Amino acid sequence: MIFYQNDSLQIVNADILDVGLFDEEFIDLIVTSPPYNVGIDYETHEDTMSYEEYLDFSYRWLKNCYNWSKKSARLCLNVPLDKNKGGLKPVGADITKIAQEAGWKYQSTIVWNEGNISRRTAWGSWMSASAPYVIAPVELIIVFYKEQWKKTHKGESDITRDEFMEWTNGLWTFSGESKKRIGHPAPFPRELPRRCIKLFSYVGDMVFDPFVGSGTTIIEAALHNRKAIGVDISKEYCQLAKDRIEKEVGVLV
Ligand SMILES: C[S@@+](CC[C@H](N)C(=O)[O-])C[C@H]1O[C@@H](n2cnc3c(N)ncnc32)[C@H](O)[C@@H]1O
Repeated sequence: MIFYQNDSLQIVNADILDVGLFDEEFIDLIVTSPPYNVGIDYETHEDTMSYEEYLDFSYRWLKNCYNWSKKSARLCLNVPLDKNKGGLKPVGADITKIAQEAGWKYQSTIVWNEGNISRRTAWGSWMSASAPYVIAPVELIIVFYKEQWKKTHKGESDITRDEFMEWTNGLWTFSGESKKRIGHPAPFPRELPRRCIKLFSYVGDMVFDPFVGSGTTIIEAALHNRKAIGVDISKEYCQLAKDRIEKEVGVLV
């Protein structure tokens, strides 16, 4: 169900697992952060599947997005490197494999250094080799494409020389976003979609976020003159995204 739309932006309140949600190849760039299955208290989505169910969920949405993407589309997938809540799992490695099974071709991995050391609460065996835990305070932005990496059509890029130099180095350092400030349990900071959009898409391209949450990707797409569509299963988050876009981009008509 279309929750909101104007000439260049659309917010859709729907389940991304619905294969019939879109019926054409319209996406140039996907920037998204799926649910991590770490027991986050989302408004609608149940974030406590078994790991096998989670991998099946990942395959299904990745396949849908693949089918809705243009041949030159790119996918920037923000996931944790690994997880330790509810069993240690190499999430980044597993999702990379599943995305490839869904048809996506692997391009590269950007390591996002969140500089979040407050996560370091579980040491395992303190100062003993018995069973110490190593936790990396980073997340990944795994970059894929549909059929060919090099775009065949010409377009306008709006990235500056300094941004290009800095961002093509695959170690990105900026802070995470405050859940409280945004009013969503897992928002990413605006810097993340901003960089992906400027580095990987042309002005006027169609940016898609299948898990739009508080609308961060749409805000940056709109501010950089891209078209954008965001989907979320929660009506409450669709409303939050609309309110936030209105506040950050300007009144929506
Ligand atoms: C990690 S959050 C995304 C946050 C977003 N990047 C932001 O900056 O606010 C994941 C979102 O996926 C939504 N979601 C979970 N399952 C979904 C599904 N099956 N279809 C569509 N959205 C879903 C949740 O409601 C949640 O808002």
